Amino acid sequence: MTKNNSGNRLPSSIEKFILHLHPPKIDKRALKFTRTFGLGGINALLFVILCFTGLVLRFSYVPTVQHAYDSIVALQSDTVFGQFIRNLHHISAKLMVIVSFLHLIRTYYSQAIYKKRAENWIYGLIMMFMVIVSSFTGYLLPWDQLAYWAVTVITQIIEYVPYIGHPIANLVRGGETVDGNTLLNFYNLHTGIVPIVFIFLMSMHFWLVRKAGGVALPEIDKSKAERVFVIPNLLWLEIMVAALLIAGLFVFSTFYHAPLLEQANPLNSPNPSKAPWYFLGAQELLLHLHPFFSAVLLPLAVGIFFFYLPYFKYSNLNTGVWFNSALGKRMTIHSAIFSFVFTFVLTYLLEHFLHFDLWFASLGSWFATGLVPFLIYTIPFIAYLWYWKTKHGAKTEEIVMTITTILMSSYICMMLISLLLRGKGMLMII
Ligand code: HEM
Ligand code: HEM
Repeated sequence: MTKNNSGNRLPSSIEKFILHLHPPKIDKRALKFTRTFGLGGINALLFVILCFTGLVLRFSYVPTVQHAYDSIVALQSDTVFGQFIRNLHHISAKLMVIVSFLHLIRTYYSQAIYKKRAENWIYGLIMMFMVIVSSFTGYLLPWDQLAYWAVTVITQIIEYVPYIGHPIANLVRGGETVDGNTLLNFYNLHTGIVPIVFIFLMSMHFWLVRKAGGVALPEIDKSKAERVFVIPNLLWLEIMVAALLIAGLFVFSTFYHAPLLEQANPLNSPNPSKAPWYFLGAQELLLHLHPFFSAVLLPLAVGIFFFYLPYFKYSNLNTGVWFNSALGKRMTIHSAIFSFVFTFVLTYLLEHFLHFDLWFASLGSWFATGLVPFLIYTIPFIAYLWYWKTKHGAKTEEIVMTITTILMSSYICMMLISLLLRGKGMLMII
């Protein structure tokens, strides 16, 4: 064991590496599992697993229309552990989308996105986008019917954006249709550019967590804060979570097989043709709302709103306090349930009873399937927010949190409707 002049043990190189990621000491309250649920760390580990399994997959994968599908079939049947590695990559990718979203929810509702953490929220949102880009570009690579048509559906949605939609869709596809150029574009993005950008973003993200003084905690008297050593306290916790995650992934990857349908056939679209699961909310919205609203106005407004979240004029922020206040908690739970049920009921009515496209056909589709359903959806929510403001004295922080909750809950509801309740011709099966 190496000792310094005063006889103290010097840290090993592994310990030194850990101390580059973490400070030597942290507030004891940060160790409580329910503070972070370990979600940021789980995400980082999933990324490492994806890089390793992805690099192994690259040995047998061939990114051409002629060979992509066959290379996956060969990987699954002829290569030792080929199926297992593919399953592991597939499951980790799905989990990363879910865990990233849960981590976003955790940081948001525990009031960890304001003031000195605002910049990290912006990095986080860009990382959420990159997780989606990684998953989407990977989705096409097996080149089966599922992959081909899911990517076709999404690039068609991009085309709805006026003026720039078509050129952007062509840029993504490398031409007018999904073909060999698209496959090569996606392969290069997926296995080259996106992981490199990710590593940069992750490094900045970790550094900003440290710069902010660690995870957000409620304010207390400084003399009462107990500080503990990261090694071994936090380190053991991280090792335990990592071991559980890896064990769970290994067991699951042994039994669950990543789907592979028949080889992509551009002449035969499956019925229904669905987007990748995380985009299903957007596809659902497009069924009911004029493309200008569903593919342009709403995504733009929601995107700006999320980026602006840390910067509204708040008067009473309680950093590190879940839901900011007791009223904030009540409003969040209430609005999550309310918007989920409301979105479901309205979708059902639009499908079976409210035929605005026929009733107002003479006034044009912009009015009939755009403005009318848009107002029917938003007016009750405006009244709802008004109720909380006037009856319960809700402040900006609670109102903004409720709007965020409504948006996320509605999206999840639409995603589930599309995933579980839509069959042939994208018609509702109930
Ligand atoms: C954030 C990181 C990543 C995510 C979210 C991700 C996601 C995905 C997804 C969803 C698929 C389709 C899998 C399937 O349907 O079975 C896929 C396939 C693939 N990925 Fe990744 N991936 C990531 C990183 C990487 C890296 C770093 C590489 C290589 C350097 C890689 C190489 C591949 C290859 C070769 C395939 C085709 C094989 C197959 O479909 O089974 N991936 N990826
Ligand atoms: C996708 C890869 C991501 C990785 C690897 C990652 C990793 C981490 C880690 C390790 C932490 C510190 C501990 C923890 O909270 O668990 C953290 C904190 C944070 N993350 Fe992420 N994160 C990712 C994505 C995101 C996303 C999508 C958002 C939000 C849009 C986000 C926003 C934040 C914020 C605001 C903090 C500071 C939290 C606090 O101070 O309590 N991150 N992240």
